[in-house]
Amino acid sequence: MDRDGTYTVAARKRLDSLEQEGRRKFLPITGRLSLSSNDYLGFSKHPRLAEAAAHALKDHGTGSTGSRLLSGNHPLNRDLESAIAHFKRGQAATVFTTGYQANLSTVVALSDLVTICYSDALNHASLVDGLRLAGRKTVVFPHNDWAFIEADLDRRTDSRKTPLRFMIVTESLFSMEGDMAPLSELSRIASRRDGLLLVDEAHATGTLGKTGRGGFEAQGLDPDTSRTLLTGTFSKALGGLGGFTVSHPAFRDLLISRGRGFVYSTALPPSVLASNLAAIELLSDNPSIVGHLQNTTLALRTRLRLTENDSPILPIRGPMDVLFRFQKNLEENSFSAPLIRPPTVPEGTERIRLSVCLPWSGGQTETIGTAWDRAVRS
Ligand SMILES: Cc1ncc(COP(=O)(O)O)c(C=O)c1O
Repeated sequence: MDRDGTYTVAARKRLDSLEQEGRRKFLPITGRLSLSSNDYLGFSKHPRLAEAAAHALKDHGTGSTGSRLLSGNHPLNRDLESAIAHFKRGQAATVFTTGYQANLSTVVALSDLVTICYSDALNHASLVDGLRLAGRKTVVFPHNDWAFIEADLDRRTDSRKTPLRFMIVTESLFSMEGDMAPLSELSRIASRRDGLLLVDEAHATGTLGKTGRGGFEAQGLDPDTSRTLLTGTFSKALGGLGGFTVSHPAFRDLLISRGRGFVYSTALPPSVLASNLAAIELLSDNPSIVGHLQNTTLALRTRLRLTENDSPILPIRGPMDVLFRFQKNLEENSFSAPLIRPPTVPEGTERIRLSVCLPWSGGQTETIGTAWDRAVRS
């Protein structure tokens, strides 16, 4: 029995059962080059972002001192909101402290307006948690199966007591699958059948489309801003921290009153706001960097014979022994690439998630290719 008694014993027992279920998590060993980073454009180490942060740190200090509704609404929030709204070709934006909070808050606030929510089976935990907190009837549809939503709507009588009938919740570039949502069909369903469409562009922003504006740009679409909300994060290709929702101004007003992560959490510090702003400016000034990421991705995809799409997220699937060997071969080359298991991904779909992040060398592509060939052969 340990000094603290039964509570820690109970915690250990819970950990044991998590371990038996294969659900216990461990922090990775640092010091190796991670092949699963989300720093797609390499912005987290860019001097322009660091300088912007350093200036703001000097001028405004370390903390934001409160939530945005109280003392934490630094003017840089408004600058960042205009910049991200403009970049995403939207009308207004709301900045949150993390992407998780943006998703949770947006789903909860918008679900007030609808009777039923449709959620892609592979949605990120922040969307799933938002739907749980919202407590609205939620139908989980098979991954990317837009026809399922239409058939389900056909089956139900429209007995709504809410202004809108439904909300579809999806990612545009799926974080673990590396594939894209059928945004054209989902937009069509939302417009024709009186619903909303909420698209999480966490991984698409900065990686998809000619200028990195995301999934809609990549698919040549203009979102209907009266029905479409785009969420995202500054923590991936934009190299910083924080979340955003791009929407019609009326939805922004709703988020400010009803977005729990907005109302009940401390705002981002000015230094982080400043570096996020610098990231959008950097990307807007240098759109060709996105093409560079896409060409680099194509080289790795070609080497690994995974050319089904061109996203920088490559899930490498195979028998567990092959995946373990691949992981070991990568570690011998000082790379780390974690094996992603349930509940992050569905049972039986374990994978090593590789993500292409600049700067990336041809040598790196070859090392990964050789590690994979050896894993498959032995
Ligand atoms: C698809 C998706 N949405 C939202 C988030 C949350 O973003 P953040 O890390 O800024 O909280 C993540 C990142 O973990 C993500 O992968």
